[in-house]
Amino acid sequence: MNENQQEEPCGEPDSPRHPSSSGDDGGAPQLTRRSFLMWVGSSGALGALPAAALAASVPVGAADDVPVTVRLTVNDVAQEARVDVRTSLLDYLRENLRLTGTKKGCDHGQCGACTVHVNGRRVNSCLSLVAMHEGDSITTIEGLGTPDRLHPLQAAFVAHDGLQCGYCTSGQIMSAAALLTEPCGRTDADVKEAMSGNICRCGAYSNIVAAIRQVRDAG
Ligand code: FES
Ligand code: FES
Repeated sequence: MNENQQEEPCGEPDSPRHPSSSGDDGGAPQLTRRSFLMWVGSSGALGALPAAALAASVPVGAADDVPVTVRLTVNDVAQEARVDVRTSLLDYLRENLRLTGTKKGCDHGQCGACTVHVNGRRVNSCLSLVAMHEGDSITTIEGLGTPDRLHPLQAAFVAHDGLQCGYCTSGQIMSAAALLTEPCGRTDADVKEAMSGNICRCGAYSNIVAAIRQVRDAG
């Protein structure tokens, strides 16, 4: 602990019913890490909070920072993650496993660059805490295809120039791969609606839709 970090006072923890507690001096409400975690644990709010918001709300370096252990499968490889409870699935994949194909765009669930599959369903990994994935099977773009054996969507994105800078591309392809298994209509408008959570700042949308259409028509 450095000199700028303060230990929480001993004694009774704050009420789990409220995320904040007021000091006896009538000052501004104080949010401690312990009271916050007790509140989210008791209210079920954990799953509704963006991981980045949770991480930003809790001071780092508190005395009760205890890693959690999570067992999960990533791209068919069993992993045992020992991480800070606030670690997002995105950061775990990128920082711990070095699977950097999954991109961090907004880190707030707004761009889709971080899309991965969890048990076959697409998820914005920046909004999900790795601690919530005990026993889950995660697939990232590295698990979808390889340079020697491209997934049909990867090949179609190349064939149709469905990218420019490429930053959004892994998220686009992971969403598109999930879309293939979802009850999506057959029109381009249906595809655009289903892909609307994936932003492409380069504006490659028409080519992305063409690539998806090719794979759907072939299937
Ligand atoms: S980085 Fe996750 S949605 Fe933008
Ligand atoms: S290809 Fe550049 S953001 Fe989509």
